[in-house]
Amino acid sequence: MQNGLRIETRDLTKRFGTFTAVNKLNLRIEPGESYGFLGPNGAGKTTTILMLLGIYKPTHGQVLINDQVVRSDAFALKRRIGVVAESQTFYDEMSAWEYLMFFARLFGVDEPEKRGQALLEQVGLWEWRDVLVGGYSAGMKKKLGFARALVHSPDLLILDEPVSGLDPFGIIQVREMLRAEQAKGRTLFISSHILSEVERTVNRVGIIANGRLIMQDDMENVRQKVSGFERIELTFAFLDETSVQEIGKLPFVQRIDRDGNSISLLTKDDTDYREAVGRFVLEKRLILLEMKKAEKNLEEAFVTITENNLAHLASKGKE
Ligand SMILES: Nc1ncnc2c1ncn2[C@@H]1O[C@H](COP(=O)(O)OP(=O)(O)O)[C@@H](O)[C@H]1O
Ligand SMILES: [Mg+2]
Repeated sequence: MQNGLRIETRDLTKRFGTFTAVNKLNLRIEPGESYGFLGPNGAGKTTTILMLLGIYKPTHGQVLINDQVVRSDAFALKRRIGVVAESQTFYDEMSAWEYLMFFARLFGVDEPEKRGQALLEQVGLWEWRDVLVGGYSAGMKKKLGFARALVHSPDLLILDEPVSGLDPFGIIQVREMLRAEQAKGRTLFISSHILSEVERTVNRVGIIANGRLIMQDDMENVRQKVSGFERIELTFAFLDETSVQEIGKLPFVQRIDRDGNSISLLTKDDTDYREAVGRFVLEKRLILLEMKKAEKNLEEAFVTITENNLAHLASKGKE
């Protein structure tokens, strides 16, 4: 079993001019942990990651990896880190195989061919190994980026939106690979703006919004917080805007989204409100074609958690 690295940030802050992208972030991720770093677009995830990697210099505060302050010249440490960046650059005129072997040799990997073949097989690119990367699709490039990130068997994997742009099969392949890495004791730091993408890969979750950490908890507890609402989906023969607004005003409705003649309701608690909805619909003489309770996902919890906390933070700021 290899030793994963520990990540710690102390009051980590990054300003661009007067704009604060990351605001006093205090994180601690233990060796071997799989950490989901979540937040909406623009929350400050990539900026944080670039500071973890020593690419951006913090305006204030610091990053420690295994108790060592990260600086831009921390090359020894970088050999133990694998990165999938948000926007990756490739050498278009190289084949996937040449590209992977280039990095394998750069890192002095033992038996590079064997390692390279195993990785390309895992990401499903083995048959495409001799094709120039310039001809690869976005999803294929993403998978190749994964293979490159893992080629030197790093103790810490930092992945910025790793599954965006991947098809469902690709997501499964990547998920399997990440599980295998965690089983080997490595630390995983995975950012995403979609909770459901990392839900089954991470053990602990930190949620960042407007550069601030607004929640941090075990995945299990986050899952329980999700149980505080239900989603009901309804399809009508015809739907007018007034009815949508009236339904939206029902006391147990937290949010309503309309898509043509269908609406989706997020309720305020986990009571089954289908009967109450049905009665209201009948009263309004709406023709209901279908009503069902939707499977809950963390994406919605994420939205509610983020909105609630932001409202809370905003009101605190005014005091
Ligand atoms: N180099 C930069 N100069 C100015 N603003 C930036 C820069 N990089 C990021 N930002 C801003 O910082 C905020 C956080 O960006 P980012 O870390 O990329 O968010 P995320 O990865 O969570 O989507 C955004 O409002 C973005 O516009
Ligand atoms: Mg980003």
